[in-house]
Amino acid sequence: MRILVTGANGQLGNEMQVLAKENPQHTYYFTDVQELDICDEQAVRACIADNQIEVVVNCAAYTAVDKAEDNEELCRKLNEEAPGILARAAQANGAAMIQVSTDYVFDGTAHIPYTEECETCPNSVYGFTKLGGEKEVMQNCEKAMVIRTAWLYSIYGNNFVKTMIRLGRERESLGVVFDQIGTPTYAKDLAVAIYAAINRGIVPGIYHFSDEGVCSWYDFTVAIHRIAGITTCKVSPLHTNEYPAKAPRPHYSVLDKTKIKKTFGIEVPHWEESLKVCIEKLNEV
Ligand SMILES: NC(=O)c1ccc[n+]([C@@H]2O[C@H](COP(=O)([O-])OP(=O)(O)OC[C@H]3O[C@@H](n4cnc5c(N)ncnc54)[C@H](OP(=O)(O)O)[C@@H]3O)[C@@H](O)[C@H]2O)c1
Repeated sequence: MRILVTGANGQLGNEMQVLAKENPQHTYYFTDVQELDICDEQAVRACIADNQIEVVVNCAAYTAVDKAEDNEELCRKLNEEAPGILARAAQANGAAMIQVSTDYVFDGTAHIPYTEECETCPNSVYGFTKLGGEKEVMQNCEKAMVIRTAWLYSIYGNNFVKTMIRLGRERESLGVVFDQIGTPTYAKDLAVAIYAAINRGIVPGIYHFSDEGVCSWYDFTVAIHRIAGITTCKVSPLHTNEYPAKAPRPHYSVLDKTKIKKTFGIEVPHWEESLKVCIEKLNEV
């Protein structure tokens, strides 16, 4: 397969690059904004046509959830319009597309894991624009998969794991919300799932993917500190209203992964096992 990966310098994009070495049967075009701005329709069309791309994996996005509340136009351009541009260009070349989306398309009022059939109801600019991107992709590309994921972290870029390790080393105490429940996802595990879909054959539709298990941000932080060997910082549980953020977060956004596991024969690690792997890698850097 001839595969175009956009946003290749991000967390997921980097993991896609690492796993490419284990999938040498494909030809890869890894691009970030310097090589291919996904908002530039002409450039996108030329890239996909000239390189005879067969699968587009869109890892590019506007991911600053709080800043998005003040930067709606840019956020919409990147998260909604650009996936539409990629989807139409893919369709024109008979290519498939994998669009990565988010648990923030839900409002978080559920009490059992969200399936792909659950009604969406975003409550942030980021969530609205990502949902718009899903629709653009599904409407404009016949061979399109949308994979919603959550709480992504990796050794690359800035993320919650790195921040909590830094704060844990700097501070004697730290408050973290315990009333938002979800599942952390190691970006490498998501990349494994994306390769499984490509290698077994794209089956169009919406899918959910996160690591296994459930926790709050507070539990996640306690585990991060325990695994990283941080013993000098006391972590306390906070209510969401004690830690106000510009964009509202879903209180419960656990994703049901049954469909993706069955369709592509994927085994998903527990979030704590993957967290150990990531922190070991961070210690090597
Ligand atoms: N992070 C999470 O917790 C999370 C949770 C759920 C879902 N997701 C979704 O998962 C996907 C991957 O997220 P991630 O955390 O890997 O994102 P990320 O680390 O923020 O990476 C996004 C990449 O896209 C690049 N980019 C920005 N504008 C671009 C443009 N116009 N053209 C091409 N590339 C551009 C960024 O470059 P710059 O850095 O230079 O801007 C960055 O390298 C996204 O779709 C995101 O919405 C993420």
